[in-house]
Amino acid sequence: MAKVTSSYVCQNCGANSVKWLGRCPACGQWNTYVEEKVVKAPKRAGIVEVSRQATPQLLHQVESSNEVRIDCRIAELNRLLGGGIVPGSIILLGGEPGIGKSTLSLQIALQPSLGRVLYVSGEESASQVKMRADRLGLPLDSCLILNETLLENILTQSEEVKPNLLVVDSIQTLYSERVESSPGAVSQVRECAAGLLRYAKTTGVPVLLIGHINKEGTLAGPKVLEHIVDVVLQFEGDATHMYRVLRSIKNRFGATSELAMFEMCNTGLREITNPSELLLSQRSAQLSGVAVAAAVDATRPLLVEVQALVSSAAYGTPQRSSTGYDVRRLNMLLAVLEKRAGFRLGAKDVFLNIAGGLKLSDPGIDLAVVAAILSSNFEFVIPPEACFAAEVGLSGEVRPIPRIEQRAAEAQRLGFNRVYASRQLEGMKGSVSGLSLVSRIDELVRDLMG
Ligand code: TYD
Ligand code: MG
Repeated sequence: MAKVTSSYVCQNCGANSVKWLGRCPACGQWNTYVEEKVVKAPKRAGIVEVSRQATPQLLHQVESSNEVRIDCRIAELNRLLGGGIVPGSIILLGGEPGIGKSTLSLQIALQPSLGRVLYVSGEESASQVKMRADRLGLPLDSCLILNETLLENILTQSEEVKPNLLVVDSIQTLYSERVESSPGAVSQVRECAAGLLRYAKTTGVPVLLIGHINKEGTLAGPKVLEHIVDVVLQFEGDATHMYRVLRSIKNRFGATSELAMFEMCNTGLREITNPSELLLSQRSAQLSGVAVAAAVDATRPLLVEVQALVSSAAYGTPQRSSTGYDVRRLNMLLAVLEKRAGFRLGAKDVFLNIAGGLKLSDPGIDLAVVAAILSSNFEFVIPPEACFAAEVGLSGEVRPIPRIEQRAAEAQRLGFNRVYASRQLEGMKGSVSGLSLVSRIDELVRDLMG
């Protein structure tokens, strides 16, 4: 007989406890423990139990799978997945509300090349999905829609339909009869994901799972899900901006730290194959306070415009604000400029913005930030052929950063013939053209201001 037990589960990290705790010892969050009832089936299949007769095998006897991949006809997404969707895999697509998860999933589901797809929507009604599908302008004759949130029913339907892809929007709305807590609770999320995993591995049908992100910016029921699924893709970007960045955080069948960019337009998401060109295309005429950084996001070179505005503080305490760049790092660079190069910025308001709504954590944009700040402060224009690729250290030294060849190549392609970088890269001068090397920020300033 099924046994009902009750345990307290941290809603942030999924840690278990027999009694309620105020603070989770695993992740340190307060007030996250919720009582959940778990119905234990007498003999439960293990999560990765694929075949009951499984016996150990010598690795060299194992047949290698001949890499069949399902082409989802969105080139950037194929690239991110390492060449397409692997049969029997589970892909988790995470992101904040309104970022475009449902839109992208539907765009994949409606690709005629995929054949029959079952789209399970627990959030929107069939007619809402239809409305969205109409906007996308893709053929609607091979996609089946199911409004259901009970896992067992979904699996039964899917076994009947035998789709080539199962899309579930979203994991947080599903519930299983085996667990007594409400949908979205960690134990439900875990149980449903495990159920879908068993289904995917036994039938070979790939599953695309949509997952919400909670306000801390992590996938709800996070660790639990990330371990179970094969691929984790995460949508980033400001819902108010057009551009969306899709990152692969985990990929059992390809490289991680890859990214693809999309633009939200009125016919759905459009892939951007040349992000740098697009990010620079809205460049304003020659103005002070603008510097171009040759950055690298994940493994992809990206040229981005850094904009700074420096003005005398209207009130006693100067304001420092930054969009797309770490504000603590901005404060650090301002302190370096003040202390090591003697620029009086202590009484100035400084506003910084990375154009296009991107958030970059590449330290290689430091030098562009410094250049933009000084350009705004002293009202001089940075030459249009110059861009920057270096980190700035605490003593004002210009430090080298990885992937300089890639950055310089991307810069050259877009007409930036002068790449300011660290003097420590002297040895690269022969192989990388267009490098302009400086060892300290004061040297850069002298060079720029003439
Ligand atoms: P959606 O896919 O519903 O986001 P999520 O599932 O991640 O919550 O995307 C919703 C936003 O996208 C919504 O604000 C409207 C916008 N949108 C477009 O701009 N163009 C379109 O063609 C579609 C379908 C949506
Ligand atoms: Mg949605």
